[in-house]
Amino acid sequence: MLVRDGAIVATGRSDEIEGQLPGDAEVVDATGRVVLPGFVDAHTHPVFGGNRVDEFEMRARGATYEEIAAGGGGIRSTVRKTRAATEDELLAQARKHAGWFLRCGTTTVEAKSGYGLSVDEEIKILRVIQRLNKESAIEFVPTFLGAHAIPDEFRSAPEQYVALVIHKMLPCVAEEQLAESCDIFCERGYFDLADSEKILRAAQEHGLRLRMHVDQLTNSGGAFLAARLHAATADHLEQANAAEIAALSEAGVQPVLLPGSVYSLGLTRYPRAREMIEAGLAVVLATDFNPGSSPTPSMPMILSLATTQMKMTPAESVTAATINAAYSLNRGDKIGSLEAGKLANFALYDCEDYRELAYYFGMLQTHSVYVRGERVSFSW
Ligand code: NIG
Ligand code: FE
Repeated sequence: MLVRDGAIVATGRSDEIEGQLPGDAEVVDATGRVVLPGFVDAHTHPVFGGNRVDEFEMRARGATYEEIAAGGGGIRSTVRKTRAATEDELLAQARKHAGWFLRCGTTTVEAKSGYGLSVDEEIKILRVIQRLNKESAIEFVPTFLGAHAIPDEFRSAPEQYVALVIHKMLPCVAEEQLAESCDIFCERGYFDLADSEKILRAAQEHGLRLRMHVDQLTNSGGAFLAARLHAATADHLEQANAAEIAALSEAGVQPVLLPGSVYSLGLTRYPRAREMIEAGLAVVLATDFNPGSSPTPSMPMILSLATTQMKMTPAESVTAATINAAYSLNRGDKIGSLEAGKLANFALYDCEDYRELAYYFGMLQTHSVYVRGERVSFSW
C-alpha cells in the first residue's frame, strides 16, 4: 500500500508498489502481520461522568437493567454524575476512552450526547465531543441524543420534556452545528412511537440525519418507524421480527447490531443477523460503548460475539465493522476500506490470519495504528 499526504495512492503486490516509491519514502514492513482498515465504531456514548460499576454488581446479584432504571439508577444516574462534572473533567475522562478505542484499532467513532438532558448540559457534552475531535487522532462524528431518557425534573410532565427537545435543544444544536445526526431511545418507559416520530421529524427539518435505538428490550415497532422516516440506521434490534427486517430492507435502513450490550446485560437474545444479511441488509457492528449496558470499547470483542453468538462469518463481521459502518456515517467514499483515494487509516495486528482477531478473544493483538498515514502513539 502506497500512502502519500495521508491518503492511499495505490495498493497491490509489494513488487508493483516498490517500483513507485519515492527515494525518501518510509517503509513499514508488515510481513507476518494482518493489516486492516481502522474500525469504524458507528454507535457509542463516550462522554459521561463516573461509571456504573455498582449496577454491574447489582445485576450479578439478580437485579435487571429495567428494575435498576425504575429505581432511579440507569441512564438517569449517569445523568446526575455527568451534570456534576465540568466540561474539562468530562474531556479528561473522554480522552481516556479515546485512547482505549485507538488501542483496539478503531479510528472513527460516532459519539452521542444524551447524559445531559437539558439545553446547557447537552451542549456541554457536544462541545466535549467537538474538543475531543480536534485534539484526538480519532475522528469523532457527533450525534444529538437529547431524547435518551426523561430527566428527573420532568418525570411528572414528560410531554414538556419532549417540547423542550423539539423547541429548544434541536434548534440550538442545529444552529451551532454540533451534531450530524439525531438519535432517540424508542423503548417502553423512555420515548414511545408518537413522541419519537415528533422529535425525529423536527430533527429532519433541521437537516439532521436519523439514527435510532429501537427494539432493544421490548418490541415497540420502532423499526417500522425507522423505515417510514428513512433513518440512516436502526440500532439494537434484538426484538425485531421478520416483518420489521423486511421493512428495513425495503427502505434501505442499515441495522446497527450491538452484541456487547446483550452480553454485558447477561441476556441471551441476540439480533437476527443472519436473516438481516439474507434480506440484503448492509449490517453494521458497533460497541455501543457506554457505562450502563455495554462498557467495552473493543471492536475485536464485538467481532468475537458476532461470530460466536450471531453466526456471522469473520469476513462478514469485519465488513460490518469497517466499510458498512463507514457508509452508515455517510463516509463510505473516504474511510472503511484500503483502496486508492481513501484516507490511510489502518491498523497492524500481531497475527497472520484476520480470523484470529475474533478467534482469540478477551485480548488485544494490535501492533500499531495509523491515522491519515501517521503512526498514532498510545501507551499500553
Ligand atoms: O444503547 N439504550 C439506550 N442507551 C444505551 C444505554 C445507556 C445506559 O445505560 O447508560 C444503550 O444500550
Ligand atoms: Fe446505545
